[in-house]
Amino acid sequence: MVLTMNSVEYNPIGTIYSPHKELHGMPIQPVGAKGVKGLIELNNEFEKGLKDLDGFSHIILIYDLHLCNGHKLTVKPFLDKVERGIFATRAPKRPNPIGISVVRLEKIEGNKLYISNVDIHDGTPLLDIKPYIPDFDATEGEKLKLGWYADKHHHAKEKKSDKRFVD
Ligand SMILES: C[S@@+](CC[C@H](N)C(=O)[O-])C[C@H]1O[C@@H](n2cnc3c(N)ncnc32)[C@H](O)[C@@H]1O
Repeated sequence: MVLTMNSVEYNPIGTIYSPHKELHGMPIQPVGAKGVKGLIELNNEFEKGLKDLDGFSHIILIYDLHLCNGHKLTVKPFLDKVERGIFATRAPKRPNPIGISVVRLEKIEGNKLYISNVDIHDGTPLLDIKPYIPDFDATEGEKLKLGWYADKHHHAKEKKSDKRFVD
């Protein structure tokens, strides 16, 4: 039996604007971007889909890391000096360059979402928005293992991105 892989095409639902105009020197995760404000302009056709989202303080953004070219299967993540498998990292240059960030939702006005804690480059195409509901991802009662990151815990706040994934 032959299995054919289908390619998948997504159309952006809007654009994320932020003060981060250069990849070099920006935060590497929302925890390092506390208070950094951004704006989402949702394409008008999707505005109706924002109904009830304003009841949530945090939302999950799924977006296209559009400034990435190509990928490598092993990388040195921003917080490490050791080469790691790309799927054991949140590094941006991936076979499918999809980023996820949990950001704070300040307010919604029409098709505009005002957000903060933004670790996303200005002009990034937005693919999806979901409410952040900790209960859904609960690992309560289960022992967590954090792999290579376990002893890097406190560095994600201060560490800024460098040029390692820029070309
Ligand atoms: C380590 S990634 C993490 C992104 C996301 N929070 C995640 O976990 O998927 C964050 C870095 O990706 C890079 N980046 C952000 N927006 C990007 C974009 N639109 N295209 C390419 N790289 C981007 C910046 O260097 C930023 O510091």
